[in-house]
Amino acid sequence: MSIVSGTRTDQRLGFADQTEEVRVAALAVSGEVPAWLTGGLVRVTPAQMDFERRSVTHWFDGMAMLNRFGFDGGAVSYASRFLDTDARRAALASGGAAINGFATDPCRTLFQRVQSTFRPDLTDNANVNLTRLGDEYLAMTETPIPVRFDPETLETLGHDQGAAAFGQLTTAHPHHDPERGELVNFAAHLGRKSEYRVYARRSSTESRTLATMPVREPAYMHSFALTPRFAVLLENPFTVNPLRLAFGGRSFIHNYRWKPELGVRIHAFSRATGALHRSWTADPFFVFHTINAFEDGGDLVVDLCAHADASIIDLLNLDGLRAGTNAPQEAQPLRLTLPLAGGAVGSRRLADVDLELPRIDYRRRNGRDYRYAYGVSSGGSPFLKSLVKLDVTDGTHVVWDEPNAWAGEPVFVPRVGGDGPDGEDDGVVLSVVLDAAAGRSFLLVLDAQTFQEIARAEAPHHIPFGFHGQYFSAA
Ligand code: CO
Repeated sequence: MSIVSGTRTDQRLGFADQTEEVRVAALAVSGEVPAWLTGGLVRVTPAQMDFERRSVTHWFDGMAMLNRFGFDGGAVSYASRFLDTDARRAALASGGAAINGFATDPCRTLFQRVQSTFRPDLTDNANVNLTRLGDEYLAMTETPIPVRFDPETLETLGHDQGAAAFGQLTTAHPHHDPERGELVNFAAHLGRKSEYRVYARRSSTESRTLATMPVREPAYMHSFALTPRFAVLLENPFTVNPLRLAFGGRSFIHNYRWKPELGVRIHAFSRATGALHRSWTADPFFVFHTINAFEDGGDLVVDLCAHADASIIDLLNLDGLRAGTNAPQEAQPLRLTLPLAGGAVGSRRLADVDLELPRIDYRRRNGRDYRYAYGVSSGGSPFLKSLVKLDVTDGTHVVWDEPNAWAGEPVFVPRVGGDGPDGEDDGVVLSVVLDAAAGRSFLLVLDAQTFQEIARAEAPHHIPFGFHGQYFSAA
C-alpha cells in the first residue's frame, strides 16, 4: 500500500487519505465573511484511497466524502462525512479488493470477479459533483444512480433511481433549466443498438427524453453544453466498443481507445423538437469541461478546457500523483465557433493561461454571452494551484496565488441584491485551498471583482483534492 506520509509539504498531501469525520461549530476566521452568505458550500472529494489489502489505482476511485463550510452571519462552521454507499461498504468489507471503479479493477486474486453484462455493477461512489433536483440534493458520478444526501447534516439518504432508465452512463454535470424547472443531462444507453439520449428531469419521478441519436461506438463525455435553443454534445475522439465494456473484463475507462483521426464531433440538438440541427468536426482534443456556450449571430459559440489528448486520464493515476512524478498535462481555454448554417469550425485559444475546473456566473450567464470565467491553473506547477479570473472577451486574466497553497475549483456566488446590469462579477469566489506547509486546508473567500482575499476560515485538517462542489443557500 502506498500511504502518503503526513509530513509532505507539497501538493502530494492533497492525495493523502482523510478518514476523520468531524463537526466544528465555529472555525477561526480572518477577514470578514459576507453576512449575505447563508447555507453552505458543500463539496465532494475522493477521501479514502487506502484500504486494508490495497489502494485504489486511480484518483477518481477514492471513496466520496462530503465537506461542508456552513455560513451564518459571518461565522463559518465545518463538517465532513463519508457518503454511505454500496461502493464504500464493499470496499471496507473486502479490504479494497472489491472496488470496481472508473480505472480500478476488482482484484481477481483477492476477490472473485462478478460477471458483468450490459448492466455492469454500476458504482455509486458519487465523488464528482453535487446538484439539487426539486427538494432533493444529489451527489453524482457518471452512473445514473446518484446518492441523495442532507445538505445540513450530510447524512446519506439512499439512491435516486429516476435516471436509470436513460442509460448506463451519464454525466455528473447536468444543466439547470430555470424556466422549466428541469435538470437536463445526457446519457449513453449501451446495448446491441447503442444511443445517446438527452433527457430532462423535474423531480425524482418526472422525466422526459429530449433527443436521441444512434451511435456505434459511444465517446467518453464528462460534460456537455446547453443554450436556450440547443443541447450540444462534444464527442471526444475517445470511444468504446460497448461489447468491450460488457465483456472486456477491464475497468471502465481502460476499454476506451484514443482515435484522433475522428476529430471532435459536435452535435447540436434542438431542445424544442429533439431534431439534430447540425454536426461539425473539430481538430482532435480531449475535453472534460465545457465553460459556456451561446449563440452569436449565425454562430454557436462553445468555450471549453481542451487537453491535447486523453493521456490526462493515466496521468491522474494515484501512484504517480502521490509520488509527484505525474505532472498532469495542462488544459487550454478554447473557443469553438460553429456556423449554424454549416461550414468550417473556427477555433482559437481564449487566453495565454492554462485553466481547468471552470465556473461562471451560472444562474445569470449560462447559455448566454458572458465575460468572466473562473478556474484553476497549474502554471507549470506539478498540479493545479492558482485561481484565475479570465475575461473571455479579451483574454486578460487575474491570478490569485500563494506559496505552498494549492487551490481547488472556484465557486462563484452572486451577491444577494447584486443583480444590477454590471453584476456579472458582483459576488464572491469560494475555493477550498490546501495549505501544504500548515498541513491543513482553508476556505478562501475572494471578492470576485477585485480577485483579492476578503476572508479565510481554517479547516481542522487537510481536505483531499477533489473535483466539484456547490453553494446551496439557506432556504
Ligand atoms: Co467535472
